[in-house]
Amino acid sequence: MPRKKILVAVAWPYANGAIHMGHMAGCYLPPDIFTRYHRMRGNRVLMVSGSDEHGTPITVTAEEEGVSPETVAKRYHRVNMDSLLGMGVFYPHEDTLFTETSTENHKEVVQDLFLRLKENGHIFLREMISPYCPKCQRFLPDRYVEGVCPHCDSKGARGDQCDSCGKTLDPVDLILPTCKKCGTAPEMRTTEHFFLRLSAFEEKLLAYTEDKEHWRQNTKRFTENWLRSGLKDRPITRDIKWGVPIPLEGYEDKRIYVWFEAVTGYLSAPKEWALHRGEPSAWEEFWKDPECKHYYFLGKDNIPFHSIIWPAMLTGYGGLELPYDVVANEYMHFKGEKLSKSRGNVVSVQDYLAHLPPDHLRYYLTANAPENRDSEFTWDDLITRVNEELVSTLGNFVHRVITFTAKNFGEIPEQGALSSMDEEVLAEAKKKTEEVAECIEGCHFKDGMKSLMELARAGNVYLDRSAPWKSLKEDKARCATSLHVSLRLVKALAVAGYPFMPHAMERLWESMGQPGGVGDEWSPLSPLAPAKLEKPEVLFKKLAPEDIAPIMGGRAMEHLDLRIGNIVDVEDHPNADKLYVLHVDLGDETRTLVAGLRPYYSIEEMKGRQIVVVTNLKPAKLRGVESRGMLLAADDGKGKVSLLSPSSPAPPGTSVDGCKKGAPIIGFDEFLSSEITIEETKDGKRVVFHGPNDIPLQMANGASIMPDVDMPPGAKVR
Ligand code: MF3
Ligand code: ZN
Repeated sequence: MPRKKILVAVAWPYANGAIHMGHMAGCYLPPDIFTRYHRMRGNRVLMVSGSDEHGTPITVTAEEEGVSPETVAKRYHRVNMDSLLGMGVFYPHEDTLFTETSTENHKEVVQDLFLRLKENGHIFLREMISPYCPKCQRFLPDRYVEGVCPHCDSKGARGDQCDSCGKTLDPVDLILPTCKKCGTAPEMRTTEHFFLRLSAFEEKLLAYTEDKEHWRQNTKRFTENWLRSGLKDRPITRDIKWGVPIPLEGYEDKRIYVWFEAVTGYLSAPKEWALHRGEPSAWEEFWKDPECKHYYFLGKDNIPFHSIIWPAMLTGYGGLELPYDVVANEYMHFKGEKLSKSRGNVVSVQDYLAHLPPDHLRYYLTANAPENRDSEFTWDDLITRVNEELVSTLGNFVHRVITFTAKNFGEIPEQGALSSMDEEVLAEAKKKTEEVAECIEGCHFKDGMKSLMELARAGNVYLDRSAPWKSLKEDKARCATSLHVSLRLVKALAVAGYPFMPHAMERLWESMGQPGGVGDEWSPLSPLAPAKLEKPEVLFKKLAPEDIAPIMGGRAMEHLDLRIGNIVDVEDHPNADKLYVLHVDLGDETRTLVAGLRPYYSIEEMKGRQIVVVTNLKPAKLRGVESRGMLLAADDGKGKVSLLSPSSPAPPGTSVDGCKKGAPIIGFDEFLSSEITIEETKDGKRVVFHGPNDIPLQMANGASIMPDVDMPPGAKVR
């Protein structure tokens, strides 16, 4: 078969937060499985994506934290690249690129697309009405404005989209709109924007989607409904300053809309890849060849941008391939469980990987993938499915076979004449591995995993029935053949399982002493190479609730950025007689905090003291003075209040152990959901953080965090 060419285009994650389980299941694992499989088949796959770093998704987060949009984008670009790589996604390969929308190349490609579409008459200038906040003195595009959704009546719908019903919105559609930043009701003002003449593409797009029988039903239906209800021209610029500039004079205060720009990444990334290769036109092999198929992987909220708007942009540009498949997943939900007490149940991939191996999660997220309907993530379910399916079916079969063979033969034994039972199970292996291949090719990953597990089940049945432990004494040649056949099943599992669980299958391959890499080629049933066998390590470790607790516990503390500060100065608050205004040295900066300590401490008692500061709290104005953080104090509720300090002095800025420097900004509510109290422990009285595990607050050097007045157990720390 000639090599096929495939472009695997993966939705670009916003660099405004850490990728979590839902993103992994919906957008990132499927394209990795798909790419690994096709590369095994000898097909040429170019896989691209990157961080989506512009627009209001980034600036809203940056403004909340009081840092620059670059800071936010760079931080999460790193975090997300590490998370993806840790899961095996975008693994190093010459035909893979995970980049960013902030590159010069991307900007040029976006501007070129914009100008070309404009020249071709697909972009025009028009006046429109847009909400404007008189207090913040700015327009409120996309996520700067919130209100009630006109479709489903939910509160908190954003100007670009309602998260409850998933509909894309226009800021002017919102009922009772308010400014996200200050809560003011916006005025409606006239502004000028460039529009994409989407209406002109209606017929072409209807024709384009017509033969897409291979699309998932939800994607096809959604797209056709959008098209049938009529396409409206859409503004593709915004009144903000964070994004790709409009390549025309006179529009310096506007930027190209983040969605117009981000989808263009599917074109700019291959161009960047080609530049890195030193063959600047190599991207054309993927973009200008009708034989090259383009597969896009995304979550369902992204469907119209990929199945309608991007194809319209490409059509308007001319000469470039349209998406062949738009593989959209539904959502994975998180059910509240005990473990999630302190902060919902959504766990970032980064936190998961700090404690457990990637393939357990790859198994669960694929077996429980939200392909055709929403699915639910729970830790209990993950533990059950990993233990009862992955460990006891696949892991167990592999372990039984290799351990028994290693012990009694020390190598892969020779295959003699095959019995009908041997023939049958090998035929079953052929069938199941072909099913896996077909499922992956059709993007039915969950079904593919099912076929793989059926093969493992068939292996266990075969092993029980052929009972090599019996023939070992009676008929050693028969025993050798049974084990050889079993090992061929193990090999088939390793090869067909590699796209799903590459890390474990690589280890398995090594333990079987087979040449090359398991991911090098798709030949699950080719003969085994002779090799020595040793007792293998366990392939998949069983999970217990204790393995999960640290992920949640670690996370619970990691969402706080607690640091030691020195109080350098204290003043009375000008407008409140219980409040002080403090200036606190945190090592690399001095911050102003407002604290209600006037009834309890004199200015002299406070100056020079070391305290513990929550540094990642959303800034808040208290009677006209902005407080950038909060100090920790214990309060017994009966009038006794005490500051907390480290038991031996620490340099200002030192983190409290278990906290994360640079943790994302949290609101006061979120802070209050973490319970910290004074407790009597086996080491005496301590300040204890209550997560799934109780953690006493202390410094890395062992110094504990203590109140300076004796406080009764149960006193709350706030
Ligand atoms: N950043 C968007 C999201 O996370 C997805 C963008 S996909 C792109 O929902 F192709 F447009 F980049
Ligand atoms: Zn405002």
